[in-house]
Amino acid sequence: MCGIVGYVGKDNDGLKKLIDGLEKLEYRGYDSSGVAYFQNENIKIIKEKGKISNLYNEINFAEKTNLGIGHTRWATHGKADKENAHPHMIGKFAIVHNGIVENYTTLKKELMKKGYSFKSETDSEVICALLDYLYKKDNNILNCIEKLNEILKGSYALGILCSDEPNYLFAVKKNSPLIIGIGDDSNFIASDVPAILDKTKKYVVLEDGDYAKIKMDKLEIYNNGKIKKYDVKDFGFDSKMIDKQGYEHFMLKEIYEQPEVFRKTTNPYLETGFDSLFNKMPDFSKYRKIRIIACGSAMHAGLVGKQMLERFANVKTEVETASEFRYNKLFLEPDELVIVVSQSGETADTLEALKIAKKNGNDTLGIINEKGSTIAREAKIVLYTEAGKEVAVATTKAYSAQVAMLSLIALNIANFNNFISKKEKVEILEDAKKLPNYMEGLLQKNEVYKEVANVIKDYNDVFFIGRGIDYALAMEGSLKLKEISYTHSEAYPAGELKHGTISLIEDKTPVIAITTDKNVASKTISNIKEVKSRGAEVIYITNSDYEDDTFYDKKIIIPKINDIFTPLLTVIPLQMIAYELAKIKGCNIDKPKNLAKSVTVE
Ligand code: AGP
Ligand code: GLU
Repeated sequence: MCGIVGYVGKDNDGLKKLIDGLEKLEYRGYDSSGVAYFQNENIKIIKEKGKISNLYNEINFAEKTNLGIGHTRWATHGKADKENAHPHMIGKFAIVHNGIVENYTTLKKELMKKGYSFKSETDSEVICALLDYLYKKDNNILNCIEKLNEILKGSYALGILCSDEPNYLFAVKKNSPLIIGIGDDSNFIASDVPAILDKTKKYVVLEDGDYAKIKMDKLEIYNNGKIKKYDVKDFGFDSKMIDKQGYEHFMLKEIYEQPEVFRKTTNPYLETGFDSLFNKMPDFSKYRKIRIIACGSAMHAGLVGKQMLERFANVKTEVETASEFRYNKLFLEPDELVIVVSQSGETADTLEALKIAKKNGNDTLGIINEKGSTIAREAKIVLYTEAGKEVAVATTKAYSAQVAMLSLIALNIANFNNFISKKEKVEILEDAKKLPNYMEGLLQKNEVYKEVANVIKDYNDVFFIGRGIDYALAMEGSLKLKEISYTHSEAYPAGELKHGTISLIEDKTPVIAITTDKNVASKTISNIKEVKSRGAEVIYITNSDYEDDTFYDKKIIIPKINDIFTPLLTVIPLQMIAYELAKIKGCNIDKPKNLAKSVTVE
C-alpha cells in the first residue's frame, strides 16, 4: 500500500539513495512522501503532499547523510496532506509505517492521558509516541520493540530512527511486507524489490514478528526476544527487466508480454503433454468442492477459473471476494479445497481469508506471482505464475497467468477423471502452441482499439455485457476501464440487463458485448439486439462468424480456439481498449490516482 525505504552505509549520498528508492516504489501508493535522516547527530525530516517530485524539490542533496528512512503514503487514517505524511517523529523516534494499527484509537487516548499530543490524524504517529513512551521506561530499544509487538494490533512494517543511535537503522515487520537489502558496507530496507534492485542483489525477507537492528556492516534479526538465523537470498533477475524496454508505459509492455508469460507459465506443465501435467501438478481430483477467494482482478480470474473447473472438471466451484469471505458465516466443508489467487501475495484481505481457511482445517492452494511473498509462505501448496515483475498498478499479464494456471488445474482434474477425449487432448495441446501467436495477432490490432476508444471517450457510462465465461471477462474489462481511464463502467450478465438497468441505455450509450461461449451466443445476441434497438453503440467481441451484422457498430473478431484458452484471447481487446482510452484522456496509466499495486491494508 505504501513504500518504505531505508539506508545505512559508508556512502554519504543517503538522500539520493532514499529518493531513488522511493521513486521505484511510487506505484505502491503515492499521496504524499517524506524522508527522515541523520544530519550532525540530529534527525531531520522533510515531507511533502502529492508526488515524490514535490519532495524531490524540497531536498538539498548537498546535505550529506549515511543513515535515513523514506516513505510514500497511501492514506488510510487521515487526509492525504503534508501533516499526515510520513515520517512522523515524537521524542527520540522517527518512523515510517506501512499498514493499519487496529487498536490505535485506544492507544492514542491512553498516551494523551500520559501527556502526549499529536500533530497528525494517523495511526502511525501513535506508534511513534508509544515507542517513545516505552523507551522512557526502558532505554533498550530492542526491548521496547518487543513490547511494541505485544501491544500493537493490525499490520505494520516499520522503519525506525532513534536519535540516541546515530549508527543504526531499525526495522519491524508484522502483516505488511519488508525486506532487507545486503550491500557492501551498506544495508537497506524496502517494502518491495524494485527499491533496492539497482543497489544489491542480496536480500533477506523479514517474517511476521521479526525486528532488525541494522548497521552499515552488521545485521541482527530478532523474534520473540531472541536473535535468529536468517537466509540471504539472491534476486533472480536484474534491473533491466524493471524498465520499459522501449514501451511508452509499463502497462503496454506487460500487455505485450502476455504471449511469453503464457508460454513460461504453462510450458513446464505441458512440455510432454498431459503426462507432464499430471506428473508436475499436484493432484486436486480428490476435492469434491473448490472455493476460490481473491480480490479485484484476481477474483475475476477466479470467476474464469470457476467456469473452467465446472465445465471441464465437473467440480462445484464458488468464487468469493476475500473482504466479504472474511466476515461472512463460514460454510467451508472439510474436503473443500480453498484456492487463494494473488499477484503480489501480500493482499491483506486475501491473506486473512487464507488464515481463516487454514484455521478451519481446509487444504489451501496459493496461485501467486511474487515468489516468497507472505501468502506464498502461508499457503499449504503454492503454484507460481511466471508473469515476472508486474510494475503497472493495473494488472494484465499477472491476471492472464492466473487464468492460465486455473485452466491447467481444471485440465488436470478433467484428465485424471477421464472427462477429456483423446481427440480433445490432442486439440488442446495443439491450441496451447497456437495461443501465443493468436495473442500476438490480437495485439497488432491497435487501430481497432483506438477507434473504439474514440467512440467511447465522450461518454461517462460504458456497459460490458456477456453470459457465463463472457460475463467473467466483462467484469475484468470493466475494471480495467475504470481503474486506468477513470471512466465509469458496469459489467452485467447479458440476460440481466432487461431487469432494470436497460433503462439507462440511451442513444449512443457504449455497450461492449462479448459472445465467445457458443452455448449461450444466440441468447446474448438477443440481449445485444435489445440494447441496440434502444440506441446503444455496440462494440461486439466474438469468435463467431455470425452473418447478421445489423446488431453491432464495431466488431472485434477473436480467433477460434479450444474453449479452455478463449478467455486469454478475449481479455486482450478489453485491456487494449482501456489502455487506448486512458491515453486519449491523458491519464497516468502506470500509476492511476488513488490506487496502489499491493493492497496491504483492509
Ligand atoms: C488489478 O488491476 C487491481 N489493481 C486490483 O484489483 C488487484 O487485482 C487486486 O488488488 C488484487 O491484488 P493481488 O492479485 O496482488 O492480490
Ligand atoms: N495507516 C498509515 C497512514 O494512513 C500508513 C498507510 C500506508 O500504508 O501507506 O498513514
